[in-house]
Amino acid sequence: MSRTIAFHLQKGGVGKTTISGTIACESALAGARTLLIDADPQGNSSSWFLKNPPKYELSDVLQGRCFLDDAIVELDSIHNFFLLPTFGIGGTLKNYSETKLAEEPFVLQDLIEQLSSKFEHIILDMSPGLGRLERSALIASDEVITPLTPEVFSLDGLEIFIDELAKIKKNLRSSIKYNKIVINSYDERIKQHRDILKAAGGANYKVFKVPVEPVFRKAQERGIAPQLFKERGRGLKPATVAVFKEMNEIIWR
Ligand SMILES: Nc1ncnc2c1ncn2[C@@H]1O[C@H](COP(=O)(O)OP(=O)(O)OP(=O)(O)O)[C@@H](O)[C@H]1O
Ligand SMILES: [Mg+2]
Repeated sequence: MSRTIAFHLQKGGVGKTTISGTIACESALAGARTLLIDADPQGNSSSWFLKNPPKYELSDVLQGRCFLDDAIVELDSIHNFFLLPTFGIGGTLKNYSETKLAEEPFVLQDLIEQLSSKFEHIILDMSPGLGRLERSALIASDEVITPLTPEVFSLDGLEIFIDELAKIKKNLRSSIKYNKIVINSYDERIKQHRDILKAAGGANYKVFKVPVEPVFRKAQERGIAPQLFKERGRGLKPATVAVFKEMNEIIWR
């Protein structure tokens, strides 16, 4: 049985793509057959991991324009790592979600059911917002984990997210699990960060702390996994390596 995890907060720029892409690499490097679904019309995960625009993309699959296997790309740089891409330019996923998706809110759930025999771990990189597309992706997922940056507006965003998720669970009969948070670009030395950690985490959440990590941007520019990035013999910080290993062990249990 496969497991599907979405990384989501409706706020933009908190690290959804970075965290979901890096954990997908970690999962694949640890030996699990892993699929990253680029469910964001911006297509950032796809421009990170693909050198050329894909022939087919997620919106083609959703509209029956190609078979699933035609759209899924196997990355040669990481064994076990597969991507169901979205091409940002042209906006086909955006158009689809603004028009046809209203009539078929469970389309992503059906897609993930088809994928579950092919992959052990499925990860969704989500777009900012909490509209139709994000709701469809959430009801298709077993679990959602929220990345947030340590700032006051993220706490507001978290409150809104928790409130909206409760409505989605009730109105769309979703049993999605939610008990984990990633605080991204966290610095223990900064009091405001420690305060936000306390305020966001509470007793009910497992919190993962990801430090400021310059390798993420460089790996995204080079189109590779952060774990494989090396410059003058140096790669990810030990604290970054440790948190992604821990996260990968815990989230698939
Ligand atoms: N821990 C980190 N340390 C340093 N830079 C980071 C870190 N996490 C993310 N970044 C950088 O911050 C930028 C925004 O991150 P990212 O694109 O992952 O956010 P996002 O939530 O996916 O944004 P969007 O809402 O637009 O989809 C990227 O340039 C990324 O390289
Ligand atoms: Mg993103």
